[in-house]
Amino acid sequence: MEPRIQKLQDEFKKQFGDDRDTRLFRAPGRVNLIGEHTDYNEGFVLPAAIDRSILALARPRKDKQVRIYSLDFKNLFEFSLDKIKPVKDSWGNYPMGVAKVLEGEKFKLKGFEAVFQSNVPVGAGLSSSAAIELVNAFIFDAFSELKLDRVKMALLCQKAENEFVGVQCGIMDQFIIALGEKDRALFLDCRDLSYRLVPVPSEKVKLVITNTKVKRSLAGSEYNQRREECNEGVKLLKKNLPKIKSLRDVTPENLVEHQDTLPEIVRKRCTHVVMENDRVTRAVEALTHNNLREFGKLMVESHNSLRDLYQVSCPELDLLVKNALALKGVLGSRMTGAGFGGCTVSLVEEKAVDEFRIKSSRAYRKDTGKVPEFYVCQISDGVGEIK
Ligand code: GLA
Repeated sequence: MEPRIQKLQDEFKKQFGDDRDTRLFRAPGRVNLIGEHTDYNEGFVLPAAIDRSILALARPRKDKQVRIYSLDFKNLFEFSLDKIKPVKDSWGNYPMGVAKVLEGEKFKLKGFEAVFQSNVPVGAGLSSSAAIELVNAFIFDAFSELKLDRVKMALLCQKAENEFVGVQCGIMDQFIIALGEKDRALFLDCRDLSYRLVPVPSEKVKLVITNTKVKRSLAGSEYNQRREECNEGVKLLKKNLPKIKSLRDVTPENLVEHQDTLPEIVRKRCTHVVMENDRVTRAVEALTHNNLREFGKLMVESHNSLRDLYQVSCPELDLLVKNALALKGVLGSRMTGAGFGGCTVSLVEEKAVDEFRIKSSRAYRKDTGKVPEFYVCQISDGVGEIK
């Protein structure tokens, strides 16, 4: 991290004169191990925070100005806390959205100046957006002494993304970035936000993220459309299952019994969500008993379901998964995040990682002409200050 911090300090001096009284903050990206497109259906997810992060060197101001420089975009963004309005296509919308939502809660915010630098790839499905939201929420919390608890912080950042940025995301990304812990995945019930941290062994196996380099746009209509199809499913199933509130309440048996009442597309979406919830609980069980083969099998089932039933994969993701599963030492592989590009996550035996990178890179280049990127990741802590 040292060279990154040095760069932040140099740039801070350049932008703001000196770097006295600055503090360093960090928010990680995340990878979801299993439980995809279940969060907005009040279901289960199992994400983990990763060792790719956004860093911010920041200092409070006496006035209501926020002046933030991004080393990645080489851009200084400035706004007044008294006048917050969205700007078209700017990274500044994330910090502004967070400020707006905090002010909506009647918090008195102090302005600040900061330099940001991130090594979470943008648009790759590793939640670079949620990371920038959380690092800003954490800075406001620290400088304005808001004393927010982390769950509340996650909820407010989700609200900023829903209402200010305009993406109808669920709670998973903000929650894991707020509450993640080193070497543990987080098993979250997205209905009541109860959670359990589950240790992930990291000696004999590694989590390898592979970036297709196909950028997906979440704001695109597909994500919101899937949400609507799920809601439609709930509405139709309610006729026979009046007690259900969301797909979370539908059991696999319920679905088998009533699937004929659903149009084909809606039936496919519902089947994915209902079975994926079931897979997450089984995956947590497997992880708890160190049964990594079973865990890997469930990852593959999850991928197939996202490809065939939820239809949010793409040829590049499918290719990476297929190639990965043909290699030695690979226990499981699946797309991670919203889909339509972005990354896969694979569970690979430590001794097979080098060969995995070489062979899967070669195969992917041959078939797509694109060079994939690999991140062998460590599970890390959530957002915080680095002292
Ligand atoms: C995106 C959203 C999450 C979740 C995933 C799909 O990452 O931000 O809330 O819905 O897609 O599982």
